[in-house]
Amino acid sequence: MDSESIAYMNIALIKYWCKDKYDPYLKPLVSSISLLAKNLYTKTSIIKNDVDIFILNGEIQDEQETKKIFSFVDKVVPKREKIKIISENTMPTAAGLASSSSAYAALTKELNRFFKLNLEITQMAKISSQGSGSSARSFFEIAAFTKDGDIYEISTKLNLSMIALIVSEEKKKISSRKAMQICKETSPLIEKWKCENEKYFKLAKSALEENDFSTLGELMEKSTNLMHNTMMTSTPSFTYLNETSHKLISCIKNMRNLGYRVYYTLDAGPNVKVLYLKEDEDKVMNYLKKIYKGKIIKC
Ligand code: PMV
Repeated sequence: MDSESIAYMNIALIKYWCKDKYDPYLKPLVSSISLLAKNLYTKTSIIKNDVDIFILNGEIQDEQETKKIFSFVDKVVPKREKIKIISENTMPTAAGLASSSSAYAALTKELNRFFKLNLEITQMAKISSQGSGSSARSFFEIAAFTKDGDIYEISTKLNLSMIALIVSEEKKKISSRKAMQICKETSPLIEKWKCENEKYFKLAKSALEENDFSTLGELMEKSTNLMHNTMMTSTPSFTYLNETSHKLISCIKNMRNLGYRVYYTLDAGPNVKVLYLKEDEDKVMNYLKKIYKGKIIKC
């Protein structure tokens, strides 16, 4: 392999859910904040080929997946030679661990390298948002992605860490793109979501800058709950959470009652992610290993 590009996944502290429009880059319906997950990444390389082909985790992808990826490639590089894209994920694909974030960020970086596009980080982030909204945030440690389409770094002294309690590694039944569309068109909570999540975004930004962990954690849970409630109140109503997810949410709340500094979040899947401070890692891990026998992944 000549060369390759790596991008990390990110997990939202304040959620992005629903698109406003593309002009040409994504303007999300709400502003979001994320944390880079440095143990979970996608490696992508591009080489010249006779036909366009996309290989993910060693498997040639079907027509639908290949079309999706190459329609993105064509937006970034409209006139180009045929290529082979080879990607490896270190995390379950499409199981609500937001692997699309690292996938599109790595692909954008690799397109920049292979086609010598000379793009700056912020430009790459914006371009990446055309493939997956969350991927725009994978270019920064703690990223803000505003509803106006701005993407930038937020600084904090908090040593934020996350682990994922893996409930299922199955591919999700409804893509987040489709799910966002259903919510935007049918959920009676959508106006509330737009308005409240913007407040959470501003408060979380201040909490990060002021190194206020408990406020940040509380806001993350509020944003998570409201996002999932837009799905529950949609027509048709749906949820990515299952019984185990709900049990784990109760466990995290219970841990807090016991004095642990832990907060939960969930994305488009049943896996529960836990936010904590690096200095509490041993304590938090020991407790979680005792109560949860499933897979635990450091993010
Ligand atoms: O990665 P996308 O563009 O399909 O969006 C997923 C959005 C969530 O992961 C559910 C929330 C977020 O802000 O990452």
